[in-house]
Amino acid sequence: MIKVITINNVTKHYPGNKRAVNNLNLSIPDGEIFGFLGPNGAGKSTTIKMITGILPIDEGSIIINGNDIVKEPLATKKKFGYVPDRPDVFLRLRGIEYLNFIGDIYDVPKEIREEKIERLTKEFGIYHDLNDHIHTYSHGMRQKIVVSGVLLHDPDVWILDEPLSGLDPKSSYTLKQMMREHAARGKTVFFSTHVLEVVEQLCDEVAIINNGKLEFHGNMDEMRDQFKSGETLEHIFLELTSNE
Ligand SMILES: Nc1ncnc2c1ncn2[C@@H]1O[C@H](COP(=O)(O)OP(=O)(O)O)[C@@H](O)[C@H]1O
Ligand SMILES: [Mg+2]
Repeated sequence: MIKVITINNVTKHYPGNKRAVNNLNLSIPDGEIFGFLGPNGAGKSTTIKMITGILPIDEGSIIINGNDIVKEPLATKKKFGYVPDRPDVFLRLRGIEYLNFIGDIYDVPKEIREEKIERLTKEFGIYHDLNDHIHTYSHGMRQKIVVSGVLLHDPDVWILDEPLSGLDPKSSYTLKQMMREHAARGKTVFFSTHVLEVVEQLCDEVAIINNGKLEFHGNMDEMRDQFKSGETLEHIFLELTSNE
């Protein structure tokens, strides 16, 4: 199977020499929903910020669809869409201005743009808010406008950091459906979460990270197999991520 994201021996220290990500190796296959699971502070956001080129990498490399994010940042960034954990972007723009801006930078043809913006924002229930400034949006609405922007340019790889936190149940359901549809079209969804149930509902494959280290990588069956039968996933997760 083709690996769409490859993380090779990646390490990241923050000032004060705290090692947030410790020699991480991980390959994410094409056309799947891949869950990046770990407790708070495990290193998920740090990893995602290195994948997306927001944070420099101390050691190692990250390749997306054949491009190195450090060596070829622009070419690489065209291949993915990113939904950050704090979607507080372009607060001074109106929703519609933000989406048109995304449409411009990713060359979304004008003919399909209008139809797509209407469909996506209606699905999320923010269509009637598009003329308001993003700084007036709630957390959930900001998340929805960013997700709409990503789906507008329809990248091969979709990277989301804790996408379901802060969403109401209906929006959470809608977003999960969108993630499933994206993968069903042969595209890749990589997302982080600290919520085990979300992984159980959505993922084909999962990696568990704790203290910056990979604790497990496999599919859901392998995860159950590797541990004593009869154990609940919750138990396994707690066992893997309990600190000595
Ligand atoms: N900007 C920063 N400066 C210093 N330490 C940080 C910074 N961001 C995160 N950390 C630390 O790095 C570790 C990993 O954080 P993070 O990647 O945000 O975890 P997660 O997203 O899994 O909750 C945590 O111990 C956190 O306190
Ligand atoms: Mg995080």
